Amino acid sequence: MSSLIKFKIDGAECMAEAGTFIVEAARQNGIYIPTLCNMPGVKPKGSCRICTVRINGRLMTSCTTPVADGMEIESNSNDIKELRKSIVELMFVSGNHFCPACEKSGNCELQALGYLYQMMVPRYPYDFPNRGVDASSPKIIKDQNRCIQCKRCIKSIKDEQGRSYFAFRNRGNHLEVVLDEELAATMTDETAELAMKNCPVGSILVKEKGFATPIGKRKFDHQPIGSDIRV
Ligand code: SF4
Ligand code: FES
Repeated sequence: MSSLIKFKIDGAECMAEAGTFIVEAARQNGIYIPTLCNMPGVKPKGSCRICTVRINGRLMTSCTTPVADGMEIESNSNDIKELRKSIVELMFVSGNHFCPACEKSGNCELQALGYLYQMMVPRYPYDFPNRGVDASSPKIIKDQNRCIQCKRCIKSIKDEQGRSYFAFRNRGNHLEVVLDEELAATMTDETAELAMKNCPVGSILVKEKGFATPIGKRKFDHQPIGSDIRV
């Protein structure tokens, strides 16, 4: 039996199955809510907070909050857009996201959100970290300076036994996402491509391959992020 419920996003009447997370329910109704740590098929964990919305006066992460009947969700107000822009800016200053030199430029979700929220120069001081680049794996390059620690690679890139190719190492300021050396040696070309695709930024790059799609012809060069969802 269907359990469709009604709710509103920015005043628009929407419907979805009870229990659907707001991000997904919005998508089903042609409304885009930005995500970074969340991706379809992976259990949400609410770490990046870019999907923040307001429900009954409270800010909540919409990737981890299920819709409820009669819920009124605010996603497009100026203060929420400003909050999201600040999150993007903070990510830019805490890593080295030098877009013109990145193979992910034009396919990068962080860069695309920078454009969406019209980020010019970040309002916060740059960290200019020097976290290094691991090129020891046969298939991929792992650039730690661009990693936003979203965990999408850890959750989605696994071998046939369900073992993850990526893992967290260290804690606090030294926390980083690293590649399991042993597993990395067995990584196929397809898995390497998928890892690069699932990383929302340019922290995972396939080795010995660049500019197969030229700059200017990549996904977000043509259309803003989320435009495939909006009706
Ligand atoms: S490598 Fe990419 S997918 Fe993995 S945690 Fe870092 S930013 Fe996320
Ligand atoms: S996408 Fe919801 S917290 Fe990251």
